[in-house]
Amino acid sequence: MAKFDFVSIADTPQERLQHYVDVAKRLKKQHKETGRNDPLAAGKVLACIFEKPSLRTRVSFEVAMDHLGGCGMYISPAEVGLGTRESVPDVARVLSGMVDGIMARVFEHTKLTALAKHASVPVINGLSDYSHPCQAMGDMLTLEEHFGKLAGRTLAYIGDGNNVARSLMVAAARFGLKFRIATPPGYELEPSLLSRLMGQCPGLDFATARDPRDAVRDADAIYTDTWVSMGQEAEKSKRLTVFQPYQINADLLKAAPSQCVVMHCLPANRGVEITDEVIDGPQSVVFQQAENRLHFQKGLLAVLMCGQ
Ligand code: CP
Ligand code: NVA
Repeated sequence: MAKFDFVSIADTPQERLQHYVDVAKRLKKQHKETGRNDPLAAGKVLACIFEKPSLRTRVSFEVAMDHLGGCGMYISPAEVGLGTRESVPDVARVLSGMVDGIMARVFEHTKLTALAKHASVPVINGLSDYSHPCQAMGDMLTLEEHFGKLAGRTLAYIGDGNNVARSLMVAAARFGLKFRIATPPGYELEPSLLSRLMGQCPGLDFATARDPRDAVRDADAIYTDTWVSMGQEAEKSKRLTVFQPYQINADLLKAAPSQCVVMHCLPANRGVEITDEVIDGPQSVVFQQAENRLHFQKGLLAVLMCGQ
């Protein structure tokens, strides 16, 4: 049977992406209604390698495996020494002989592609410096729960053109959303990504802005993330100054349609990229997003590891 990885949304056919979301919805409904899921992953183990901290990603993968009757195993950075204590290909080969899937959160994205290349079990991207596909796909689930069909809706991302923004833009293109992005100069997403997406999704409706108010004008959803990602701590004071005009606050919401929802992948720096008033306000769906990390991960694991 062919092995499928989930390292990148751009490398995954759209029908598979939609299938992950559909299985996630089915398993979410089953768990809400009955308090349990069928033990699709009985006897299976997912190795979860973390080079960076995590709350949502770690807990959602471990709980998803537990609900499916299998087991998620946390492996700390010091233990695995990915590429330092042992080469990445050797880690992939060793784990392939013992577990049924590998989820990894890494700094360099190339470690994920190397794991995928050398593992004979599915490899899942739990965030790299380059992308965060599980977050973006959990967000597509949240948006589908709100809006039904996503084609023609508008997603506006405000802030840093980072890993989360990159995966969101690809997911938005694939699900037919219009994508607007406002970043400070020097923090844009790379134009080559847009060219690649235009090739995959010829109808893509994409626009950049400097002023966040221009980006949110027709938004159905406004999204932000931290201004200082894991690994960028040395740039913190500069970033806090540069990004100040990009805060999601009540003033910015006045420039957007009143029914739009507000999203954040979390963890949030309250009072920095988003105010308390907005994140705790009636338009915020951030905790639904957080819960949907569990449900999307469950759908993904059920397909990649359990033949759903
Ligand atoms: N959103 C997200 O990936 O959260 P964690 O870093 O806590 O896993
Ligand atoms: N951009 C953030 C996302 C955290 C989930 C980071 O990489 O730290």
